[in-house]
Amino acid sequence: MDKLHKPDLKQARKRSKDDIQTKEYQHSEIINLGKGKKYLIQTHGCQANEADTEVLSGLLEEQAFIKSNSIEETDVLIINTCAIRENAENKVFGELGRLKSYKKVNPDLIIAVAGCMPQEEDVVERILKKYQHVDIVFGTHNVNKFIEYLHYVMVEKKRLIEVYSKEGDIIENLPQARDHRFKAWVNIMFGCDEFCTYCIVPYTRGKERSRQKDYIIREVKALLNNGYKEITLLGQNVNSYGLDFKDSNYSFANLLEDLAKLDIPRIKFTTSHPKDFSDDIIEIVAKYDNIIPFIHLPVQSGSNTVLKKMNRKYTKEDYLTLVDKIYDKIPNISLTTDIIVGFPTETEEDFLETLDLVRKSKFEGAYTFVYSPRKGTPAASYENNISKEEAKSRLHRLNELVNEGYRRGNKRFEHETVKVLVEGPSKTKSDVLSGYTENNKLVNFKGDSSIIGEIVEVYIEEAKTWSLYGMIK
Ligand code: 5AD
Ligand code: SF4
Repeated sequence: MDKLHKPDLKQARKRSKDDIQTKEYQHSEIINLGKGKKYLIQTHGCQANEADTEVLSGLLEEQAFIKSNSIEETDVLIINTCAIRENAENKVFGELGRLKSYKKVNPDLIIAVAGCMPQEEDVVERILKKYQHVDIVFGTHNVNKFIEYLHYVMVEKKRLIEVYSKEGDIIENLPQARDHRFKAWVNIMFGCDEFCTYCIVPYTRGKERSRQKDYIIREVKALLNNGYKEITLLGQNVNSYGLDFKDSNYSFANLLEDLAKLDIPRIKFTTSHPKDFSDDIIEIVAKYDNIIPFIHLPVQSGSNTVLKKMNRKYTKEDYLTLVDKIYDKIPNISLTTDIIVGFPTETEEDFLETLDLVRKSKFEGAYTFVYSPRKGTPAASYENNISKEEAKSRLHRLNELVNEGYRRGNKRFEHETVKVLVEGPSKTKSDVLSGYTENNKLVNFKGDSSIIGEIVEVYIEEAKTWSLYGMIK
């Protein structure tokens, strides 16, 4: 018999009052499961998935698995999936279809599906019916158990579907094989309690729970000691950090300040919700040079009617007041955002409000999306009278304006000297290096690969729409 434990979206929606416990990871009794074997993980979606992939890699490498570069030579393949929009899911189903032929050539290949998609009932049913070559399906709440699952499937030669609908404890000290040598993700909290009406995340990632500050500070100190130059604090809504602590008032602003004092060269954080972006957070960002002047602040829409239907809990005016305050206190800040067009019942007037907000907010970049109904969310049952063509046309008009912002944001650094964290050779030219400035602008410049991982000064000769071109000083 295959092992079957399926998800339940109704259960996932419920929020219990139970305290979240913090537990330390107990190393598996299984050893050397991967001796002489290779693994590959394909990661879709946001940084939460990238962070989970680093944990999965850590767990596998602890079992002596070696990372491989191609499906042909891999023994274990994990697809870490994203459920945020339908096209993200379609990509994964397409990939799963293609994998059938790999399994025919190599019947011992173990295929696992992880991440947000398995948290959805329909997805699991579809995999069970149509993708029988998938061996393991597990979700976001049991990443730490992957070695057990893999062992079961390798020994028993059966399928295993194990998805929990409720988040469990916070597990600390999980092994991690980090993808970068000088940039690191640091989760500070998990889950989301906002329930924006279009969004599946509160169902796939569970209730909001913050990590104890001592574990975070210890992790960041270790990164600093290992030469890391940049950390990005991660959470679906980082400003809510600590609101779930019952016996302490320790907040996101407190955490930011404690981390800034550790002298790590660059601290970033994402994602922020406008409703919780308090004055004390603005003050701390303004006060410390190593908290970089870059904030991603998703607005989603500029229409108060749409914002209300989205359950965003702020108005266009609230948002603009916040933005003004940020520019006032941190004049060199670069702001970016997320916007959804074509939300059910969005009118041309609503859309014009969004364009107006984009102009007034002086964004230097934005991720823009056409609304995608997600089964189980409230908005999926709203009547949607916007045609695909209309939504696409709005997206196009919005992007034209957003691209002006990218250009303007880059232009202000022309003929200036900026600090660049050098990441590696540029994507197109091997003799050109690339990296990011403190304002998160991509810079290309000629230089020697020995400076990869260093922060260097670069004089900007030319600003283009998507990047800056400069000369090392
Ligand atoms: N359709 C389109 N975009 C969405 N996002 C979240 N849910 C949806 C959806 N159902 C966008 C939001 C969010 C970003 C991560 O993805 O803009 O900020
Ligand atoms: Fe989704 Fe809203 Fe939570 Fe962001 S804040 S993850 S958009 S529910």
